[in-house]
Amino acid sequence: MTRPATLVTGASAGLGAEFARQCRARGGELVLVARRRERLEALAAELGGAHAVAADLAAPGAAARLLDQVAGLGLHVETLVNNAGFGASGRFSAAPAQRLLEMIDLNVRALTELCRLALPAMLERRRGFILNVASTAAFQAGPNSAVYYAGKAYVLSLTEALHQEVKGEGVHVTALCPGPTATEFFEVAGNAGSRLAKAATDPRAVVRAGLEGLARNRAIVVPGLMNKVTAQSNRLLPRAAMRRIVAAMKA
Ligand SMILES: NC(=O)c1ccc[n+]([C@@H]2O[C@H](COP(=O)([O-])OP(=O)(O)OC[C@H]3O[C@@H](n4cnc5c(N)ncnc54)[C@H](OP(=O)(O)O)[C@@H]3O)[C@@H](O)[C@H]2O)c1
Repeated sequence: MTRPATLVTGASAGLGAEFARQCRARGGELVLVARRRERLEALAAELGGAHAVAADLAAPGAAARLLDQVAGLGLHVETLVNNAGFGASGRFSAAPAQRLLEMIDLNVRALTELCRLALPAMLERRRGFILNVASTAAFQAGPNSAVYYAGKAYVLSLTEALHQEVKGEGVHVTALCPGPTATEFFEVAGNAGSRLAKAATDPRAVVRAGLEGLARNRAIVVPGLMNKVTAQSNRLLPRAAMRRIVAAMKA
């Protein structure tokens, strides 16, 4: 018999570290995943014990290896928080192709693989929770962050579909769509001085809203009033206007 665990990807910083803290407060085993092992171990110590697994989830086969490691710890994934991800700012034509493909490997491929690998056992147990971190970027195209926005649109679409597929079978599936949040994200993306970065809000409220939405099996959670407006604005404004607004916000 394995014990149920919460698996948080991208737990070494930002939203992932906050997911780890709030999930710890709810009790149970915790598996923290990211590349920076020291950070994971420091967080595990702060939380009074958690399993730290250093892994590059953009690498081929990483998701399957990770779940093997979880099984090796005598655990099974009851709650999957697919949070690891990064963005990049700049023109598509000038971005290093390798970096864009790495983004797809992490933000899209690893997230999909983890859902696909974890879901069957959740359905068998008739108990499971999957929280996929998308973004308000999922609701419109993102000039100067084209691949990131397209990837988040994929995450939202996939998550909504899975939510509907498994409804009533004991498994909750939720997409969390944060707007700009104060994490290391903008530094990594290379636009720490942008208008979006300056509008960043507290990650604690974002994580709380995500976990509450997951508990209630909401298909989509958009935390905060401004983000709700952003998410809905594509229904009110022509797509051409949305493209210009997003391009200006990224400056
Ligand atoms: N902050 C925002 O404004 C915002 C808004 C909407 C959505 N989001 C989404 O929120 C999620 C979390 O981002 P964040 O804002 O918390 O950014 P962050 O502070 O930069 O954290 C990103 C996390 O992902 C991990 N990560 C990056 N590459 C990885 C890889 N190859 N393998 C495993 N882990 C990797 C990082 O750890 P290591 O570097 O140690 O691997 C880190 O723990 C992302 O999916 C992001 O797209 C963020």
